[in-house]
Amino acid sequence: MKLQIQKRNRQITNADVFIASCFEDEMFSHETTYLNEMTGGLLAKLVKKENFTGKADQTVSLFFQKSLKQHVRILLVGLGKQEEVQEESVRQVAATAVQMVRSWQGKHVVSDFFGMRSKKFTLDACAKAMAEGLWLGTYDFAKYKSSLKEKKFFPETWTFMTEHKTDIKLASKGLSLGEMYADATIFARNLVNEPAQHMRPADLVAVTKAIVAASSKTISMRVFNRAQLEKKGAGGILGVARGSDHEPFLVHLVYKPLHAKKRMVLVGKAVTFDSGGISLKPSDAMTTMKIDMAGAAAVLGVFSVLPDLELNVEIHGIFAACENMPSGKAIVPGDIVRIMNGKTVEVLNTDAEGRVTLADALTYALQQKPDVMIDLATLTGACVVALGEEVAGMMSNDRTLCDELKKAADRAGERVWELPLEPGYKKLLHSEVADLKNIAGRYGGAVTAGLFLQEFVEEVPWAHLDIAGPAFAEKPLNSYTKYGASGFGTRTILEYIRSM
Ligand code: BES
Ligand code: ZN
Ligand code: ZN
Repeated sequence: MKLQIQKRNRQITNADVFIASCFEDEMFSHETTYLNEMTGGLLAKLVKKENFTGKADQTVSLFFQKSLKQHVRILLVGLGKQEEVQEESVRQVAATAVQMVRSWQGKHVVSDFFGMRSKKFTLDACAKAMAEGLWLGTYDFAKYKSSLKEKKFFPETWTFMTEHKTDIKLASKGLSLGEMYADATIFARNLVNEPAQHMRPADLVAVTKAIVAASSKTISMRVFNRAQLEKKGAGGILGVARGSDHEPFLVHLVYKPLHAKKRMVLVGKAVTFDSGGISLKPSDAMTTMKIDMAGAAAVLGVFSVLPDLELNVEIHGIFAACENMPSGKAIVPGDIVRIMNGKTVEVLNTDAEGRVTLADALTYALQQKPDVMIDLATLTGACVVALGEEVAGMMSNDRTLCDELKKAADRAGERVWELPLEPGYKKLLHSEVADLKNIAGRYGGAVTAGLFLQEFVEEVPWAHLDIAGPAFAEKPLNSYTKYGASGFGTRTILEYIRSM
């Protein structure tokens, strides 16, 4: 599907689908009037008959014989009230539209930029949102489906009409940025959807190598294996990995532009499968635990497009890849591990493994002397209990960072909500025999996990995103996030980085 832009021109002969967007109760624009004329007034009749008023995600479509040889489809999509329209509405309606086009096997689509008449957003923002909706809305993870029917049809071209020739440059910038954001998100989705049998720690290393190889030398990496981790004293990741037959790795990516103003570190949780270890999860809680590397997947998604973004920020990506399994060699409740910074942790529940691996990853991250640090982790079921499956928890020791990250998430169409790093709860992590314990009682589990991580970030401005809820959709979330991995966090981080 090639996305392209053209100055409005009625003589597009090969198009077989025409789409126009409408605001609620403000149906008639240039586009809809033109389409109505094309159908000799049929469209207006249908709109009335079907009671199409332009509500968000409402559609009406018409199959029409344009000439003896040419059939076309006409589709009107609703965006809701003009004053309420946002980039997120555009994303969702674009996804709905492309799904309809595919079901009709439409080859050449002509459409407006949805919602552009609203003047609520700039043309490039609108084009970006459209590209994201179109690509994320056509995503599926079908590689393990044997039937060819699953390999669905794609349109060949999608042509956007603009009013003025001068708009084309700005709109193309938006489109290519949107395609980049979608690519990064899809990159992350694919890694998370891959079954754990094919996404071991070593596979994450291989993926990282591929990103570096494709980066025209703008990204470099270091990998630390078990022996090197032992030398570093990374007892957290080594402890968690002890029960697994698969080797653990600490991975460090670096994107270094020539004149960087700031240095940021992204840390991702990278437990390739979380069985719970000796504190074994019940079967039902384990079925989706291939997603426990979704934090690292978002970081890798971001890195997969960094070379094309022309940024002036130095960005480091760090993750401690391992698998959490029970076995005769596994870490057991009561074991004490020593983290790379010398702190000891009493592991009372081997299922609270993410924070133990992140303790090492964050310590290593600090050694890079970052100006700002963000981690993404499918860290706690408690966060899902608190905020549900669509909203990530955000905790931070820095007001500005927290506010900017929230704004970035809003622009990206990802939901995050702040939870407090309540100092009074620190005592819940007190251990009788070590510096800290890895669990903290029944209540406020997302917060106490955040407080545990805070012990390893010192004074660096840091934000923690607990993405346990939104990383994976067990039922469709919206028109561009269906069953499976969402790629959550990827676009928020890209938005944040671009605003730095
Ligand atoms: N990976 C899980 C958290 C999780 C739960 C992610 C649901 C995605 C969906 C994490 O390692 C875990 O098991 N946390 C425990 C912590 C508890 C033992 C303190 C939890 O949340 O139950
Ligand atoms: Zn766990
Ligand atoms: Zn986990």
